[in-house]
Amino acid sequence: MRHAAIRGWGKCLPPAVLKNDDLATLLETNDAWITSRTGIRERRISHVPLGELGYVAARRALAAAGWQGAEIDLIVFGTCSHDDQVPNMASGIQQRIGATAAAAMDVNTACTSFLYGLSTATALIRTGAAQRALVIGGELISPFMDWTNRNVAVLFGDGAAAVVLEACDDEEGVLVEKLGCYGDAREILRVNGMGGAYANRGRLYGEVSWDFDGQEIFKRAVTGMVQASRYALEQRGLTAENVDLVVPHQANLRIIEAVAKRTEIPLERVFVNVQRYGNMSAATVPVALCEAVEEGRVAPGALLLTPAFGGGLTYCAHLLRWGERVWPLEHSDAELPPCEQTALELIEDLLRRKHTRTS
Ligand code: ACO
Repeated sequence: MRHAAIRGWGKCLPPAVLKNDDLATLLETNDAWITSRTGIRERRISHVPLGELGYVAARRALAAAGWQGAEIDLIVFGTCSHDDQVPNMASGIQQRIGATAAAAMDVNTACTSFLYGLSTATALIRTGAAQRALVIGGELISPFMDWTNRNVAVLFGDGAAAVVLEACDDEEGVLVEKLGCYGDAREILRVNGMGGAYANRGRLYGEVSWDFDGQEIFKRAVTGMVQASRYALEQRGLTAENVDLVVPHQANLRIIEAVAKRTEIPLERVFVNVQRYGNMSAATVPVALCEAVEEGRVAPGALLLTPAFGGGLTYCAHLLRWGERVWPLEHSDAELPPCEQTALELIEDLLRRKHTRTS
């Protein structure tokens, strides 16, 4: 059986940091509440479009593998906050990295989009339809955020990361996955205003209201991530003991702790960076993967478990076998343009633009 090994990885976080105390100047909230309920201390706000974050992450992942963009024959961009729906995000990446022979698709399963995209790319490599794939998870939440709603505004941030995959005979990359969806619960996590249902109804794109049932999401998230993890382990005849590191979706520290407890994996074997970035939706797992490698938490040949959930309500868990190389072959010179504004100034700009119908 062919496999799809992870050969390169790269992340791109916008530089502007929004701390909990900054949010307290916009909303009736405070650092103690946010930290104790979510574990989040700060998040990033982007000064550039999503395509720019995805491009820089992609260039860094390519460099880590020592590849040129032209060597890629499949691009999957996982996101739910597209700069454009048509043309899609992946085609913009194809053009900018010079992957002229590559197929290019977007995948939207909200926060699980990167992982669903990883499954898609792995499956296409297994069939022989692709040899070398680029999978991006990126999200630009800030323009779609309802900055008046403290229930959700404190939870999210912007960012992107990518991996590149290559067909191989060794048992690397995705070993097994469980992909699922609680369609009956799709209404508990809804962003009203993102989509064709709102077109031609006098509503500006970006004018959104978030309907979240936080406690129900919490319960479903834990159930889905735990069941998917157990399923994936059972499929391979493995137990929690065999997992070297869990790299979960980073929505809330308490969700991560609950999943770790129920899967009986001690927190020392769980990678957590939600405190730095909040919930970057599709970007959380690939950014966490990159940082786990950078911090030396991924040993050569490590077995990783990546449980996640997202709008839909989608859930999944993948078992990944990392390769022998845990260092990048090259470093990319790709950088974001400098950011002259603070995160609060960026949000103030967003709010001004929302209220100025002509711009
Ligand atoms: N600051 C201060 N107080 C707040 C804030 C805030 N930012 N937000 C809510 N509160 C208040 C509420 O108004 C409520 O006040 P009340 O008791 O006077 O009515 C009180 O805090 C408790 O609110 P709850 O919603 O019950 O708080 P809870 O403990 O459930 O925590 C949270 C809320 C963090 C959203 C939690 O439910 C959660 O983590 N849910 C799942 C995570 C989630 O929804 N993430 C987004 C999902 S997107 C994705 O990843 C797919």
